[in-house]
Amino acid sequence: MAAPHDVKIGVIGGTGLYKLDHLEIVDEIYPDTPWGKPSSKIVIISTHTGLKIAFLARHGEGHIYNPSEIPSRANIAALKYIGVQVIIAFSAVGSLREEIKPRDFVLPVQVIDRTKGIRPHTFFENGIAGHASFADPFNEKLGKIIASHASALDNATLHLNKTLVCMEGPAFSTRAESNLYRSWGCDVINMSCLPEAKLAREAEIAYQMVCMSTDYDCWKTDIEVVTVDTVIQNLRANGENAKKLLVAVLGDVETAIKQDGFKDVRGPMKYAVITDRG
Ligand code: ADE
Repeated sequence: MAAPHDVKIGVIGGTGLYKLDHLEIVDEIYPDTPWGKPSSKIVIISTHTGLKIAFLARHGEGHIYNPSEIPSRANIAALKYIGVQVIIAFSAVGSLREEIKPRDFVLPVQVIDRTKGIRPHTFFENGIAGHASFADPFNEKLGKIIASHASALDNATLHLNKTLVCMEGPAFSTRAESNLYRSWGCDVINMSCLPEAKLAREAEIAYQMVCMSTDYDCWKTDIEVVTVDTVIQNLRANGENAKKLLVAVLGDVETAIKQDGFKDVRGPMKYAVITDRG
C-alpha cells in the first residue's frame, strides 16, 4: 500500500517539545506498523517555504510513555513508511559538565548504552540475523548543518562533539552513577536516545540527536536543589529554542537531501544481514 505522504524530514520531539505549533498542520496520520502504532499521531507540517516535515511526539500526546515504554520500532518504521530519510531528534538531558548549563543545547557525536536490554532494540529477529555498524551513531553531515545554525538559539550555547550516556530510568541516576559517567568522559545524560538511534541506523535513516539541557543531574552538590518549577521553565525555554533552531536548519537539510547528500546512509544494511538467503 502506498504511503499517504512522501515526507523526507522527520522530527522527533522529546520532553518539552510536544508539537510544532508555530507551523501549519496539513495532515495527521496514525499508521499501523508490524511493531504496532507509533507513540503519537504523525503530524505532517508545512513550513513557510512549503516544505513538508513529519513530527512525532516520542512520549505520546500528554506524555504517556516512560522512556522504557516508547514504541521505538513502530516510531522508526512509521517514519520510514512515509519516506523519511533524515531524523532530527530532540531530547531533554541532564548535564554532567559545569560548562553545559541548563538551557544550553548539545550535539553529541557518541553515545554509551546504559539501557538494560529490556527495550526491543532491533528490527533483525525471527530468522533474520543482522549487525549494523554503529561506531559513529549520529550522522556527521546532519550534525554539521545543525551546528552551523547555532546562532538561531536565544541565550543558549550549542556545545559540539560531546558524549551522551543513555540510561534506563525512569528513576534518575544515583550520585555514584552520575560521577561514574563523568569519569567515563560523558557530558550529558538522557533516557531516550536508544534504541531510537540504533533503529534509525537499521532503517537507513540519517539521525542526529539534539540535546537540550534541563538540569545538572545529581553530581553537582554546590547548587540549590532543583525545583520542579525551575525544570518546567527550562523545558519551556528549551522547547521554544528547539523550534527556532529547527526553522533555521530545515532549508539546508532540504538542500542536502536534494543533492543526495545523505546517500551514504542508504545501502549498508544489505551487507549487515548475515542470514543465508540461499
Ligand atoms: N533527562 C533530563 N535530565 C536528565 C537526567 N538528569 N538524567 C537522565 N535523563 C534526563
